[in-house]
Amino acid sequence: MKTTLYKPKFLFFKRIVNSFFSPKIYGIFNKRRAIETSNINTELSRLEIFYHKITHRIWFFPSMYSAKFWVDIEKDGKRGYTTFMKIDEKALFLIENLQKLINDKNMPILDVGCNVGRFLNVLAKDGCNNLTGVDINQIAITDSYSVYPDLVGNAEMKCDTIQNFLSNAKDNEFDLIYTMGATIEHVHPTFPLVKKLAKVSGKYVCILINESELYVRFWEIEFRRNDFKLLIKAPFSYFDPTGDIREVLYIFEKIV
Ligand SMILES: C[S@@+](CC[C@H](N)C(=O)[O-])C[C@H]1O[C@@H](n2cnc3c(N)ncnc32)[C@H](O)[C@@H]1O
Repeated sequence: MKTTLYKPKFLFFKRIVNSFFSPKIYGIFNKRRAIETSNINTELSRLEIFYHKITHRIWFFPSMYSAKFWVDIEKDGKRGYTTFMKIDEKALFLIENLQKLINDKNMPILDVGCNVGRFLNVLAKDGCNNLTGVDINQIAITDSYSVYPDLVGNAEMKCDTIQNFLSNAKDNEFDLIYTMGATIEHVHPTFPLVKKLAKVSGKYVCILINESELYVRFWEIEFRRNDFKLLIKAPFSYFDPTGDIREVLYIFEKIV
């Protein structure tokens, strides 16, 4: 997947804006309906899409524009779920770190932006039976149980936006929340993402983040402000034809 590599100074500036100067808003503008309008060919929907396209580059007004590209996706192709099934080196890096945190197979675990559930499948095979995945890609969610039969009875696969799902989840509902791969980095900074993750996680949040993706943030500072301490920060670098990609694994633990 093509990744835009920004200059470090520009990234630093973007981090400051996204973490400290974006008003945190949750409302009709970042709910699921905001992206579904793309299916209705009316003047109003064209106007709405235009709105999201504009605000997606603006730090102070909500936008769901980046999620729009994951709705109504076919099974194959660049964004199709067959592209997200391989357990490569990076996936393995995340899995090994998750496995160290799981000390009870009944632990409630949430995969944010799970797609078809390649990580959940590994955890289900390990014996974990209290799994949940959320993703906006309807076909990936629908097909997940037939692609990975071990998910049946062990995982609840939900088609929803990250924003909607986290806003409706209960406090401390999951002991472990994790994500990887252009998921939460694409959540517009006006959504109170870290606050919601910190509220919904009772114990750990584990994120494998591309530090040059769309909405970069000061993850450590934001989690600390929400009473989570940093347990592990581990860089993961790999070569990509578009440049050297640097990703970072952060594991945060709730301070009790
Ligand atoms: C690059 S894929 C990574 C999928 C998965 N984490 C993996 O590594 O196999 C990004 C995923 O995030 C989902 N996604 C992006 N924005 C979302 C949003 N606002 N709400 C729910 N899912 C979203 C997409 O549908 C897609 O499945």
